[in-house]
Amino acid sequence: MSRLRAHLHLFSGTGNTARAASMIRERLELAGYETGLTRMDQKPLPCEDSASLHVVLFPMYGFDAPTLVHRYLHKLAAPPGARAAILAVGGTEGEIPGNEGISLYRTSKLLRKRGFTVFHASLVSYPNNWVQFVSAPDEQSNARICRKADAEVERIADQLVKGTVSFKKQSGAMRLLFSFISFGYRHVGRRMLGKLFVADSRCNGCSRCARTCPMGTISMKKGVPSWNWSCAGCQRCINTCPREAIQSSTAKLLLQGIASLLPIWPAIWLGSALPLPSWAAWIAALAGYSIACLVLLPLTSRLVEAAEARPAVRRFVARGPSVRHRRYRGPSA
Ligand SMILES: Cc1cc2nc3c(=O)[nH]c(=O)nc-3n(C[C@H](O)[C@H](O)[C@H](O)COP(=O)(O)O)c2cc1C
Ligand code: SF4
Ligand code: SF4
Repeated sequence: MSRLRAHLHLFSGTGNTARAASMIRERLELAGYETGLTRMDQKPLPCEDSASLHVVLFPMYGFDAPTLVHRYLHKLAAPPGARAAILAVGGTEGEIPGNEGISLYRTSKLLRKRGFTVFHASLVSYPNNWVQFVSAPDEQSNARICRKADAEVERIADQLVKGTVSFKKQSGAMRLLFSFISFGYRHVGRRMLGKLFVADSRCNGCSRCARTCPMGTISMKKGVPSWNWSCAGCQRCINTCPREAIQSSTAKLLLQGIASLLPIWPAIWLGSALPLPSWAAWIAALAGYSIACLVLLPLTSRLVEAAEARPAVRRFVARGPSVRHRRYRGPSA
């Protein structure tokens, strides 16, 4: 008799989602499933496992699934009769649990389009790993949040084994709001946040950050890491640098803010000066603004990066709140 087969599709920036995946895998195996696992960041071409159950697991970024997960799912074809379950892994901040935003809705829709019967979509909250802006929880809080999350994953794993149908309810208004915010994060936010990273004087050039970045965003230039514009925001680099040398720069944040505010008035002036109907004038203003940002933001970043070659400038640029933040070492730390 052929055994039941399940395949897990995983992306994890700092280990929370990986922990949930290993617990679910263990539970499925105990229930008699043979299992396979693909790491979505290591194998951009989706697997062709003919398993009857597929479980997709990812961390939450900006109220949506990471861009690389969407790219992967777009190419995933369902074997005949395959069912799929989705587990979004969010972050608890203080006492506030995570939020699934638009992620479950968008990934369910995509998987259905790819031919899967989606029967389960839920969220579990491990500690928030966004140390670029907030400190990681202390040991006690970390353990407490993880215990609660582990218990929830156990419950979800049982539901997957039983094939329990479960979806989180969400109003149309909330969906619209999350769509709007996540669109901004996906297209602009994550890129600009990645450009805030800078390695301070503690960096020893080991290149671990460059080797482990899931987006290939980091390259080593003259012995120090440099971030390009494709960061996903996973926080792996800042949390796993052995010297805690990676910081989120306040100076870069201010300069980026100025560079994106400056073209607003010239763009509006351009729109109103053109002999166009008002709707076309707004489109012209928006196009002018976007072009100016596409020129000004990379230019500002190039200039700052060139100046960073001087140790005194790098010391100044590397100042920011993350200097004081505890790093997040993952759920078992
Ligand atoms: C840029 C960024 C955005 C985030 N957005 C959300 C969010 O919208 N909802 C949420 O619940 N958690 C959010 N988080 C928290 C992470 O999803 C959470 O810490 C997750 O457990 C990390 O999983 P990992 O360790 O597998 O990468 C965000 C974290 C980062 C870095
Ligand atoms: S991991 Fe840390 S020490 Fe190593 S190159 Fe990156 S910033 Fe420098
Ligand atoms: S640059 Fe850092 S935060 Fe961005 S994708 Fe790479 S490892 Fe993740």
